[in-house]
Amino acid sequence: MTVQGLPMSVPSAGLPARVRIHEVGARDGLQNESVTVPTEVKAEFIHRLAGAGLTTIEATSFVHPKWVPQLADADQLFPLVRELPGVNLPVLVPNVRGLDRAHALGARRIAVFASATESFARANLNRSVDESLEMFAPVVSRAKQLFDGTGSPPGVPEAPAPHVRGYLSMCFGDPWEGPVPIAQVVRVCRALRDMGCDELSLGDTIGVATPGHVTALLTALNEAGVPDEALGVHFHDTYGQALANTLAALQHGVTTVDASAGGLGGCPYAKSATGNLATEDLVWMLHGLGIETGVDLGRLTATSAWMARHLGRPSPSRTVRALTGAQPDPSAKESSP
Ligand code: HMG
Ligand code: MG
Repeated sequence: MTVQGLPMSVPSAGLPARVRIHEVGARDGLQNESVTVPTEVKAEFIHRLAGAGLTTIEATSFVHPKWVPQLADADQLFPLVRELPGVNLPVLVPNVRGLDRAHALGARRIAVFASATESFARANLNRSVDESLEMFAPVVSRAKQLFDGTGSPPGVPEAPAPHVRGYLSMCFGDPWEGPVPIAQVVRVCRALRDMGCDELSLGDTIGVATPGHVTALLTALNEAGVPDEALGVHFHDTYGQALANTLAALQHGVTTVDASAGGLGGCPYAKSATGNLATEDLVWMLHGLGIETGVDLGRLTATSAWMARHLGRPSPSRTVRALTGAQPDPSAKESSP
């Protein structure tokens, strides 16, 4: 399926030797599908992603099932994947209730998810930005007590994925509020760090970032005391900028990149959030730059083609389409529900 010897590996100066891919297809991808994928298919998806070499696979969300019905089976799904060897399986939790559900099932890595803007905090969390930070504080401190210093479950080697991640949405633009000032983003990032989040993931939820903006935000965060080692980038590809933005982040010094197998994704509470950066497109670029990922592109592409058949439409990933000969989906949605 892959083209032998391609992409040709031509390293470029000033880039990391290895990138950790934080795979979000099973969570960010499937939360936005109009069809609810059966639990066993989700479990097989995660097993296949692991088989393709991904070592950080965000499995699901322990949120209110009415808010994200596509992931309402989190309690049934997690036990089907938690024994996967060599894989970290972070899950989203918005509050202590979510953390307790996840912890009871053996989850050892969690992510809280804040917003840089008031409008999205209200739409996604039913709270203001500061009220959501108040909701997260006990989650983060309890998660750190539960997880820090503990070993791995049997068969799972400790990998570098952090225990507590803090997402920040709308870091570059917001569908209700327009451009988001960098200082506003830095303030919430600082609050998440001060709370104890090991890693922050900077979300371009509606895909409006451009590379200079990415560099400016990363520089401002470094100046505010957040080092590149504690940062990941989470780009959506609405305007075709996700790979260019990723390259800017790598050149800056970031080595954790979120991506979604097959380019699945979006956010049910943000209009115009289309698919995430496709993991295959990211891997093609990284391998072309001589950057290690541990991912087998052929197996990953086969997984996304398999999932596309379950979803009844071709993958939006350019790399998946090129490698499988699939045609773009003429009925592709322009915006999320
Ligand atoms: P709320 O209605 O304000 O909740 O929702 P509440 O605290 O008032 O509780 C109401 C009821 O919900 C109670 O039940 C709680 O027990 C229950 P009752 O007593 O009425 O019977 N409840 C729960 N049940 C199960 N699990 C829970 C839970 N919490 C409360 N965890 C809440 C507040 C945060 C819960 C809600 O707004 C919610 O679940 N939001 C989740 C939205 C979401 O998942 N969005 C997508 C993820 S974010 C994203 O995709 C962006 C990202 O990819 C980055 C980017 O691209 O920018 C990360
Ligand atoms: Mg997202």
